[in-house]
Amino acid sequence: MSIVKAVIVAAGSGKRLPGLRPKQFLPLAGEPMLAYSLSSVQQAASVSSVVLVVPEGEIEEARRIAAGRFAKLAQVVCGGAVRQESVRIGALAAGECDVVVVHDAARPFAPAWLFDAVAAEAAAGGAAIAVAPISDTVKQVDDAGAVAATLDRSRLVLAQTPQAFRRELLLEVLDRAKGEGILATDEAALFERFGRPVRAVPGSRLNFKVTDPEDLALARALAGEGPAEMRIGNGEDIHPLRPGRPLVLGGVAIPFEKGLSGHSDGDVLAHAVIDALCGAASLPNIGELFPDSDPRWKGASSLDMIRQVASRLREAGWQAVNVDSVVLCDAPRLGGHQAAMRQAMAEALGVDPGRIGIKGKSAEGLGAEGRGEGISARAVALLRRVPARAEGSKAEEAREEQATRGRR
Ligand code: CTP
Ligand code: MG
Repeated sequence: MSIVKAVIVAAGSGKRLPGLRPKQFLPLAGEPMLAYSLSSVQQAASVSSVVLVVPEGEIEEARRIAAGRFAKLAQVVCGGAVRQESVRIGALAAGECDVVVVHDAARPFAPAWLFDAVAAEAAAGGAAIAVAPISDTVKQVDDAGAVAATLDRSRLVLAQTPQAFRRELLLEVLDRAKGEGILATDEAALFERFGRPVRAVPGSRLNFKVTDPEDLALARALAGEGPAEMRIGNGEDIHPLRPGRPLVLGGVAIPFEKGLSGHSDGDVLAHAVIDALCGAASLPNIGELFPDSDPRWKGASSLDMIRQVASRLREAGWQAVNVDSVVLCDAPRLGGHQAAMRQAMAEALGVDPGRIGIKGKSAEGLGAEGRGEGISARAVALLRRVPARAEGSKAEEAREEQATRGRR
């Protein structure tokens, strides 16, 4: 029985999939991509231990992702500037063994049996790679974009990883390539170049490499990531108008002879919005969250309440998609204040003002609103579930926050 060790290369920067994080750290159905490969290799019976190769500065993050889950993970090391160098570093770190199986962290769907299959072939013949059939007809095109030829598909396959090699051969080939300044996109290409045999093991087309945004969308669908859960909520409020009070609506002070009474600033619009948001997320309603009996909220700005609700929504895993509202009153006219109200509530909620709708509606002289005794407001809010973050991803959150600030 030969001793087989695996090297998962995850030290690339993913230039063809630009984003906040290198692709191998992006979540697929809530789980970082590289965890998929660690899980496959953990289940591969022939593999005794694993080295994970990551970019500089990511060792701690990789350890955190793997913590307590992948018993075979022996080491996390820092990779090189090119894939070939990352493979060399990993193969050296793996230490004594018969066969090294190299796998791209960017291929999350390699089945466990494929690691065993290439390892067994490499133990026998020196080198073996996983390949997938090509189902489309393959054409060659010229520089002008015209079809020049049709290739014989029956002799063509797609080269994938895992790729397995007898360790001493792999190190010899990598050293020679380094000495001669030869770079290849996979190690098998170096074996071919130096005239050494490589066996092809039929794998699976699902073992594709996540390279560009389309691949990422495919991978996420395959991982079972569905459309995000949505929730809707509605809220309503009415306050009496009293002389001598400032009138605040949607967080904006509006010049008027009367103002809305209430324990806080009496902002009916903000209160209706808060109740819509809380209702959608099944949080306690505004009266329970900010009780009249609590002196902290006496004369408080309702925008501060929206801010508090926004942070409770984030904690509960919800993000506001949009809010729409109606304010019912005959006077004052709200027309000139809507933009400022949208801006104020959007800022408090932490969303773009384009996600806030406010409509002033005349009561046509009817009811309490029509008689100028009070103002009422109604609101609906739509929330979207944000994918569960892996625990301890505070560092990632901070990085995202920083990146967002950078963009502003
Ligand atoms: N890789 C690596 N070290 C490098 C470059 C790549 O370990 N210096 C790894 C990648 O993390 C990936 C695998 O090699 O798991 C396949 O490479 P590729 O798909 O080319 O990934 P990137 O180089 O990260 O992407 P791009 O070429 O788009 O920049
Ligand atoms: Mg690359």
